[in-house]
Amino acid sequence: MNCIENYTGVSILLLITIMLSFAGCGDTTYMQGKRLYAVNCQNCHMEDGSGLGGLIPALSSSAQIGSADFSCIIKNGLNDTIFQDSTYLLKQMPSFKKFSATEITNIVNYVNHTWAKDFKESTILDVEKVLNECP
Ligand code: HEC
Repeated sequence: MNCIENYTGVSILLLITIMLSFAGCGDTTYMQGKRLYAVNCQNCHMEDGSGLGGLIPALSSSAQIGSADFSCIIKNGLNDTIFQDSTYLLKQMPSFKKFSATEITNIVNYVNHTWAKDFKESTILDVEKVLNECP
């Protein structure tokens, strides 16, 4: 009798644990991407993607996001010279050669999920295809 009660108790506990871990899933969407963004991108593009004045472009309103296309910017960086306030400014974004395609996919999905108008998940195959065709 006791044994059966214990067993029921354990089962209920187990069930609650399983339910809780599923409930947590919503929060962990693109969690690795968020973590990578926080460590590697946020110091320039800011936590809310708003960038830094004329120096760092905002991601939250960028036309570059929304697909996997900006994978190349992450991998190779960007060195545009832009004309602003009657001077040429060299804007430099560092390259992140160290990232695997999986890591880039997670960053891309985190950025797009957070800021793109129409979110469509990119797969690792999408990212690999883009990376193979970087300029
Ligand atoms: C040291 C500061 C710095 C860091 C760190 C940085 N960026 Fe950038 N990023 C820039 C600058 C500056 C530009 C503009 C470069 C240019 O136009 O030549 C830029 C441009 C971009 C663009 C194009 C935006 C547009 O509208 O033109 C994207 C997308 C982007 N960065 C994503 C990222 C992601 C994702 C990370 C992290 C993996 C990251 N950046 C890390 C400085 C940074």
